[in-house]
Amino acid sequence: MPATPQMNDARLRRAALGDAALLAELGARTFTETFGHLYPPRDLATFLADSYSEARLIAYLSDPGAAAWVLEAGDEAIGYALVGGCDLPHPDVTPTCGELKRIYVLKAWQGGGRGSRLLQTSLAWLQERAAPGIWIGVWSENHGAQRLYLRQGFEKVGEYAFKVGETRDREFILRRDARPGGPASAPAR
Ligand SMILES: CC(C)(COP(=O)(O)OP(=O)(O)OC[C@H]1O[C@@H](n2cnc3c(N)ncnc32)[C@H](O)[C@@H]1OP(=O)(O)O)[C@@H](O)C(=O)NCCC(=O)NCCS
Repeated sequence: MPATPQMNDARLRRAALGDAALLAELGARTFTETFGHLYPPRDLATFLADSYSEARLIAYLSDPGAAAWVLEAGDEAIGYALVGGCDLPHPDVTPTCGELKRIYVLKAWQGGGRGSRLLQTSLAWLQERAAPGIWIGVWSENHGAQRLYLRQGFEKVGEYAFKVGETRDREFILRRDARPGGPASAPAR
């Protein structure tokens, strides 16, 4: 970790199929760093083996309806975002809805505007494709991420039980209109 990470020290690039292993590893690392303490080791291992396998990332990166971006500083990947079709269990979700599926910045690099940059890039991509809405699932206790999303015009429209192994988390479902001109175009800080 550098002593004083600056916002403009990171490069953002669209991820390619060849990044599947990198994103699987970074995904497992950032999920564990953020949420690992919440779960029995067995539940965490089951979840990571399924949701963060290289095969799962290959499936996302091969899907024309999905996209991912990697944030890099020097030769280190320090964050990423993944978007695609919406899989959240809500009656208003349609096959054309988009979802911000994952957004993570390594702890050492958080709080410098990098997450907002990833979010803006993700939302711009979804905004062009997703009608009628963009969706996000977020842990009910993840107040920091919720603040970030609320600032971008998202609002809570439901909740569901998110499975991590045998554990069930209370997850909020957020939605925002995808159309430009609405709250969608509010600038990120
Ligand atoms: C959410 C996250 C990607 C934001 O990246 P970032 O570079 O810290 O974000 P920025 O510097 O652009 O913006 C800061 C905002 O992010 C949010 N945030 C900051 N730290 C956070 C944290 N540890 N967890 C969640 N959100 C956080 C807050 O809304 C913060 O604004 P505030 O200081 O006014 O409250 C990053 O904090 C992270 O990876 N958190 C852990 C993983 C996570 O919660 N992902 C979202 C899952 S739905």
